[in-house]
Amino acid sequence: MGLLTGKTALITGAARGIGKAIALKFAEEGANIAFTDLVIDENGKATEAEIAAKGVKCIGYASNAADFAQTEEVVNTVKEEFGSIDILVNNAGITKDGLMMRMTEQQWDAVIAVNLKSAFNFIHACTPIMMRQRSGSIINMASVVGVHGNAGQSNYAASKAGLIALAKSVAQEMGSRGIRANAIAPGFIETAMTASLPDEVRKEWVQKIPLRRGGQVEDIANVATFLASELSSYVSGQVIQVDGGMNM
Ligand code: NAI
Repeated sequence: MGLLTGKTALITGAARGIGKAIALKFAEEGANIAFTDLVIDENGKATEAEIAAKGVKCIGYASNAADFAQTEEVVNTVKEEFGSIDILVNNAGITKDGLMMRMTEQQWDAVIAVNLKSAFNFIHACTPIMMRQRSGSIINMASVVGVHGNAGQSNYAASKAGLIALAKSVAQEMGSRGIRANAIAPGFIETAMTASLPDEVRKEWVQKIPLRRGGQVEDIANVATFLASELSSYVSGQVIQVDGGMNM
């Protein structure tokens, strides 16, 4: 028996990166996986097959997490096809960095819509189902910059701080119905999002990390598995920084 045997997990933006690593780890622990991404192309189909190869049911859905109506539709479909939704991971996220003076309204709106409104959309659609089940674990993928702020990322940092406050509010509102909500705040994780950084910037970051390495997607997936499973049955409304000790 895995830690998540018999559970259904819905993970947004999981065709690649951290979301995919979480889906794979959950599948190893026996969970059936529904995941979303903007498109399910060849890469998305390959992810779907890789997860299903762990011996669980897995379906990838093309859906824009920032879109309220699309989210309601995809959540209803997942409920019909899987029977339950026990774990929700709000992972879809983008960056559109810029200094405040130069940030456009479009940069601000896009990041808030994809990173923060998406979580509202999914929590709004999934919690009636979780309430009827009288159990559920919600995980919002925040960031250390949502706790500490970051120059040049005010839109992204604000969206991530919002995800933390959203998790805490849902934890307070729905705890009595058996629903837990927490946030993970990754530090510097080696993914497509960070691969584009120049070598100099990368070296500077790593120097600030006590463990002297960038995080791997599996480092995040392990903590997500803890928060999704009964191992964390008395943990709610928390934000766990997974950053090699970068921020204490
Ligand atoms: P990534 O860019 O590799 O993956 C994000 C996925 O979300 C992509 O597959 C993308 O297509 C999807 N996506 C984007 N917009 C979407 C939308 N509107 N609807 C549905 N899916 C959408 O990013 P990564 O690095 O895996 O990040 C995952 C999460 O972790 C994000 O929320 C990010 O902000 C957060 N994070 C990442 C860190 C890092 O160092 N990589 C550090 C802290 C937080």
